[in-house]
Amino acid sequence: MALDRNPGPNDLSAFWMPFTANRQFKKSPRMFVGAEGMYYKTSDGREVLDGTAGLWCCNAGHCRPKITEAIQKQAAELDYAPAFQMGHPKAFELASAVRDMAPEGMEHVFFTNSGSESVETALKIAIAYHRARGEGARTRLIGRERGYHGVNFGGISVGGIVNNRKMFGTLLAGVDHLPHTHLPAQNAFTRGQPEHGAHLADDLERIVALHGAETIAAVIVEPMAGSTGVLMPPRGYLEKLREICTKHGILLIFDEVITGFGRLGSPFAADHFGVLPDMMTVAKGLTNGVIPMGAVLTTAAIHDAFMQGPEHLIELFHGYTYSGNPIASAAGLATLETYREEGLFENAARLAPYWEDALHSLKGLPHVIDIRNMGLIGAVELEPIAGEPTKRAFTAFLNAYEAGLLIRTTGDIIALSPPLMIDRSQIDELFGKLSAVLKALD
Ligand SMILES: Cc1ncc(COP(=O)(O)O)c(C=O)c1O
Repeated sequence: MALDRNPGPNDLSAFWMPFTANRQFKKSPRMFVGAEGMYYKTSDGREVLDGTAGLWCCNAGHCRPKITEAIQKQAAELDYAPAFQMGHPKAFELASAVRDMAPEGMEHVFFTNSGSESVETALKIAIAYHRARGEGARTRLIGRERGYHGVNFGGISVGGIVNNRKMFGTLLAGVDHLPHTHLPAQNAFTRGQPEHGAHLADDLERIVALHGAETIAAVIVEPMAGSTGVLMPPRGYLEKLREICTKHGILLIFDEVITGFGRLGSPFAADHFGVLPDMMTVAKGLTNGVIPMGAVLTTAAIHDAFMQGPEHLIELFHGYTYSGNPIASAAGLATLETYREEGLFENAARLAPYWEDALHSLKGLPHVIDIRNMGLIGAVELEPIAGEPTKRAFTAFLNAYEAGLLIRTTGDIIALSPPLMIDRSQIDELFGKLSAVLKALD
């Protein structure tokens, strides 16, 4: 069919939508045309409570004045500055602000434009770091089953979500995976961190024995796995991973693209669990999702390993045209100020017990086989319809949208992660609507 080059305003055909059932959507579109605070506004004039902070990213809520103003002002003042061999003040200010908020030991910040790019950057830095220190054989990367590290080749290689991998060929060589930590038989309906599963970190010793520690550059995990359907780390699990990595000289990377910036009630999951990685990847909440931006945080040891040789030479042959973009930097600074001024991480921590009780009150509703939570994050796992996996949760998603609630589903799991500005009455509204949706499901 010939392309219509002059589509009318209602032509939906050109945009090939990401991670979307395109044909279903275009038959029955769901459009947001506005947003404020905790609510979206739809094209048919309804308000929809944001139960997912957009895509786990609008932690401060929507259309926050400080962030909007900062972007407007920056766009008029300095729209773009070359990212290579030139600088502008706000990128440096933001890097310092992120470092000051980050756990002790995270000293340097490399800017990217997304979570996926942060992951690629961290994996490349890990391999290059070992090489810069004379351990060039350390090239293997270890991820985890069910891990989500974005959609680029490095990320899907260390990632462990089958549908994100199976269509895309052989991926990166030299990658291995830890087992996932989902043990529903022992841990179903756990509040917070599950008791069982720390031993799964010992699998790293098996991988080390198989390949030799001297060939392994890094282990990357989400401290709390979000996109696969919210899996909490079992008690003691992250500590063990840290211990084994340290013992064998392997870098530990925490992918904090979801957990960064207050989701668990602490600035980062590393703070929450008291386990320090060697690198952290962030994005999403860094700019409240308003302007694309990500970053990799590293220790001084990693950064300093590159700072050698003649000073006029580039130390790391890596970077993006938009690394530290002025408007993104301005959005990031205003976002961090909003978090601080409004005490949003503290609000998340304060409301976490109320959130937990409200979420677990869904236990016993039809088809609910597990509920998991931590901070302002939650998951409700539904029994799949026999022979039609994902359909039950997708139906819940569609019905929730009609009922004025945005949820997210992955497989047959409903994931919830509202903006951190949520209050008790909005938590009641969210679970009131969700409970009605679940009760009506076939
Ligand atoms: C843990 C994690 N890493 C990486 C990414 C990829 O981020 P982006 O979609 O910005 O590329 C995501 C996105 O959800 C994520 O959850």
